[in-house]
Amino acid sequence: MGDYPDQHLDPVVAATYDDREADRFDPAHLDPCLNLLAELAEDGPVLELAIGTGRVALPLQARGLEVHGIDASQPMVDQMLAKPGADRIAVTIGDMTTTVVGSGFSLAYLVFNTIGNVTSQDGQLACFTNARAQLAAGGRFLIEVGVPKLASLAPGERIRVFAHEESYVGFDEYTDPVNQLFWSHHWLIGRDEAKRVSGQFRWVWPSELDLMARLAGMELEHRWADWNRSPFAAESPAHVSVWRVV
Ligand SMILES: C[S@@+](CC[C@H](N)C(=O)[O-])C[C@H]1O[C@@H](n2cnc3c(N)ncnc32)[C@H](O)[C@@H]1O
Repeated sequence: MGDYPDQHLDPVVAATYDDREADRFDPAHLDPCLNLLAELAEDGPVLELAIGTGRVALPLQARGLEVHGIDASQPMVDQMLAKPGADRIAVTIGDMTTTVVGSGFSLAYLVFNTIGNVTSQDGQLACFTNARAQLAAGGRFLIEVGVPKLASLAPGERIRVFAHEESYVGFDEYTDPVNQLFWSHHWLIGRDEAKRVSGQFRWVWPSELDLMARLAGMELEHRWADWNRSPFAAESPAHVSVWRVV
């Protein structure tokens, strides 16, 4: 993990995660994700790195897949364990860069920008090698992550505001270009007080991820711009990439 307390270890952050990320629970977002993961799994067992509150894992298991998960945060996993169907998911508390829960998975996946929670290049590479070590021959590793937004920074600026609403302001602060580190700040503004939730992330380029995959013994199979499999292009803000064990 990074050398900072992950915000997901905070029980209050964990307890409010599903409400804050309600858009990502919307079937319009989630169903294409589940369709793609189920298709790539080809009926084999799957492993979610950073399973969180089970946003993806629970409905995927409900489709009949065998789902395993790893997460570093007991409070996040406790949220999942309180939900129906969680008893059918094998979850392990641990660091996804090192924790091994089994072998022979047909698909491992790491979604919602969470590769960025690992704040060193070595650590991100370790996600690939650890996933690869648990995959079957021909197995796949999928990552969903944003494309770094550096090009939208004006010269000399290091702050990029991505949300500016009456009760919520979110901005990224690019603090360490050498090590590719930024902080994401979320200000939740109530009637009488404001609360800040901040996390540090490492931005990573698609080409850098491809190299990590190669070092781990995998080759790029697909790169789409989103879960609907739109073509990835120069302006795409994010990507869903799939590497396959060679
Ligand atoms: C944004 S949430 C995503 C949760 C879930 N995958 C989803 O899409 O809703 C990020 C999750 O990553 C977990 N996490 C961050 N760093 C981790 C690490 N090094 N190993 C395991 N889990 C980690 C956090 O505890 C948190 O549950």
